[in-house]
Amino acid sequence: MELFVAPSILSADFARLADAAASVAGRPGTPGADWLHVDVMDNHFVPNLTLGLPVVKSIKAATDIPLDCHLMIDDPGRWAPGYAEAGAHNVTFHAEATDDPSAVARDLRKAGAKAGLALKPGTPLEPYLEILRGFDTLLVMTVEPGFGGQDFIAEVLPKVTEARRRVQTGHLELRIEVDGGINADTIHAAAEAGADTFVAGSAVYNADDPAAAVAALRSAAVR
Ligand code: DX5
Ligand code: ZN
Repeated sequence: MELFVAPSILSADFARLADAAASVAGRPGTPGADWLHVDVMDNHFVPNLTLGLPVVKSIKAATDIPLDCHLMIDDPGRWAPGYAEAGAHNVTFHAEATDDPSAVARDLRKAGAKAGLALKPGTPLEPYLEILRGFDTLLVMTVEPGFGGQDFIAEVLPKVTEARRRVQTGHLELRIEVDGGINADTIHAAAEAGADTFVAGSAVYNADDPAAAVAALRSAAVR
């Protein structure tokens, strides 16, 4: 299983997003970011506001790194396919924000993107086990969504392990992504629990050398 590192531009300089993408790109001999994580917040689903479709389109034009859009918004059925049409590789929306996650996933795949289901720390996996086959990514939040720089909630890890078990028993093609408080100290526990995709905002963009921070995370995951 190939481990993916997905820097979150939430902790980057919003006036320099193209530079933020370039700063984590791979260089000869050094793999860079596998995905670029883009946090879309609407000030309704979460108490914070970030960016939307026009900015995602501009980021898409500025980088070849596949975009991993994390929609922390109400009514994803209405908005999510637009992010797929804008060229996002993966579009993840929250289970808590819709009554019919499978329908949203179908629309995303129809629009050409991978589909991701996100769960807040307090949301159980069990009600969603049977629909995971309709998804490409499960995003297990390891902080309450809304802000970067929060502390990792280790109590969520059993949910990651439960998801990994389901992937194995059901032979699912599903990435298990963790998001929130991931740094060189916490990433190993998340990997041990069964995560294969790691979002990191402050650990990457608060570092002097974001590309080196990505490499350090990658090696800390397997250490
Ligand atoms: C939080 C966002 C995260 C955030 C993570 O709601 O979904 O992607 O950028 O930031 P860190 O890595 O600083 O916890
Ligand atoms: Zn996120």
